[in-house]
Amino acid sequence: MAQKLTVKDIVARKAQGKKISVLTAYDAAMARMLDDSGIDILLVGDSLGMVVLGYDSTVPVTMEEMLHHARAVSRGTARALVVSDMPFGSYQAGLTDAVANGVRFMKEAGCDAVKIEGGAEMGDVVRALNRAGIPVMGHVGLTPQTVGRLGGFKVQGRDIDSARKMIDDVKALADAGVFAVVVECVPGDLGRVVTAEAPVPIIGIGAGPDCDGQVLVVNDMLGLYDRFTPSFVKKYADLGPLIRQAAARYRDEVEEGVFPAAEQTFPSPTDFSSLLKRG
Ligand code: KIV
Repeated sequence: MAQKLTVKDIVARKAQGKKISVLTAYDAAMARMLDDSGIDILLVGDSLGMVVLGYDSTVPVTMEEMLHHARAVSRGTARALVVSDMPFGSYQAGLTDAVANGVRFMKEAGCDAVKIEGGAEMGDVVRALNRAGIPVMGHVGLTPQTVGRLGGFKVQGRDIDSARKMIDDVKALADAGVFAVVVECVPGDLGRVVTAEAPVPIIGIGAGPDCDGQVLVVNDMLGLYDRFTPSFVKKYADLGPLIRQAAARYRDEVEEGVFPAAEQTFPSPTDFSSLLKRG
């Protein structure tokens, strides 16, 4: 059986110059396939809300919804590090609340770490979670839980002042004890500078090729979410049309009486025709 990756292994990758692959996962079957493919980190993203649960944003996602899916991902994973997003509202109301909710991801869902959004202002939360033995990943740049405040889904850090603030935020998060930081939707050059300045691995999404690792939403890269695909996504497969075609073919075959055929039907051990009511 594959050796389980640890937070320490992920941190060491920065000095080793070995890139870190991260994909989101929301259920055990997908987690098993991604884990078998050698993905390093499976992130139970609160993108769950949009790509699986049908919400318009990540804001309504609850603790119970995240825990339900995080449990499934943990059950399907042998090697990858399992990190779960803490949903909006589960770490902002106070440190006691944040720690109690963080503990649930470790204890009830078998996660290895949690992820929270925000910069330097989240330092106390990171410290409190770390004190409780919970490894934390940060998330700066485009932070979907507070996208309204950022003026929508827009590239972040476009000028020197906001770029400098982002670097300061990453350093403050690292000082507080995060083991890695997701940087979302920034110019490629800023992705490179943040990565060079950061003492911990930077996992980019829409942040160019020079980050220490990359993350994508698995439904985006497999063509399974058709409501919106950000321009930084590369589709490694387009499964949506294949699923629609397969379902339409099944419907036709059911309507035509072609499915199930003899191969999908159990042979009869007995002649049951005497049970038919006659005349
Ligand atoms: O929720 C999510 O899937 C994420 C990734 C986009 C990084 O936070």
